[in-house]
Amino acid sequence: MSNQTAIEQTSSETSAVSISTVGPPLWLLAELTYDCPLHCPYCSNPTQLTETKDELSTEQWCQVFTEARDMGAVQLGFSGGEPLLRKDLEVLVKHSRDLGFYTNLITSGIGLTEKRIAKLKVAGLDHIQISFQGADPEVNDAIAGKGNAYKQKFKMAKSVKAQGYPMVLNFVISKQNISQIAEVMRLSCELEADYVELATAQYYGWAYQNRDHLLPTQAELVEAERIVNEFRDKQQGKGPHFIFVTPDYFETRPKACMNGWGTTFLTVTPDGSALPCHSAKMLPLTFPNVKDKSIADIWQQDFSFEYFRGDDWMPQPCKGCDEKEKDFGGCRCQAFMMTGDMHKTDPVCSKSEDHHLIQQAIAEATKPSKAIVDRINQSTAMKHAKNAELNI
Ligand code: FES
Repeated sequence: MSNQTAIEQTSSETSAVSISTVGPPLWLLAELTYDCPLHCPYCSNPTQLTETKDELSTEQWCQVFTEARDMGAVQLGFSGGEPLLRKDLEVLVKHSRDLGFYTNLITSGIGLTEKRIAKLKVAGLDHIQISFQGADPEVNDAIAGKGNAYKQKFKMAKSVKAQGYPMVLNFVISKQNISQIAEVMRLSCELEADYVELATAQYYGWAYQNRDHLLPTQAELVEAERIVNEFRDKQQGKGPHFIFVTPDYFETRPKACMNGWGTTFLTVTPDGSALPCHSAKMLPLTFPNVKDKSIADIWQQDFSFEYFRGDDWMPQPCKGCDEKEKDFGGCRCQAFMMTGDMHKTDPVCSKSEDHHLIQQAIAEATKPSKAIVDRINQSTAMKHAKNAELNI
């Protein structure tokens, strides 16, 4: 975390955004809780474990959904942590479905039962995404940090399909499981997934801390992509649709993070903080809370949501770049994590003066030190301790 002071809107400033120029937040991500029974080292959630005490109530979440839907939001993801830990999940699903949202449960599958899958269906849940950590129990459970996790996920994935849901499987690919890519694809076929994300870890939160241990080499990625392409060719249009996502560290232009700050995505964290992306809390900006402000006020007028809209904020080389409409200067959180300045060009961009930081990170990941292994063990132990405290 930088020692910069948080930038706040002063009373003399007025929000430059006009309501008519900002479309609605189309995609709402409701992070219902940060509690989670797994201990995945690639988790992108915040590394501070202080937020669980002040989760929004059922009524507060329902109010958020109503306000977002009134603005025109169409898609709602229930995420976490592990959203199944919220006993009111069915109530929240029903309320949002009644409002007309397309609803998606993003889960580890731990805590799911056949009965709960059926109850969620009655509540109107449209879609379930289950994460796996590997293609067999040994690798999966070692990465997840929980025994029998694979067995439970496998069983629940079968049940999700048997109960007629469209199903996405999400495999977060890292150095620990990239050699299993062909087995992962075979498993996805066996489970009759509709879509499969083979997505290399995004380096935020815990994953940023553990990056040197997670980031595959370019050679490993090239080989994995070759296997995916070969598998797809053999499929001849049958079976799951596979999406392979390489880490932006190996690109020369940054990703258009969140499709542009404050244009499409709105995340609400367990304690009610409203963010333009799931990692924004780390930035030296003061973010609003849904307990104090309506979703419309937050989206249309809050200083933090307006801060990186458009290109007034951009430094060079972004400002004069003919690709700025494509990537919007890249990811603000990544720029901040790597350079300590959230305004800078995302270092992924080869035009950035900080691009060497990415190359350095790639080089360091080829030789994870004992210190990194110790750090992963320490973060896993912290999560275990937290879960023991919560009895999950
Ligand atoms: Fe925050 Fe990219 S994750 S802007």
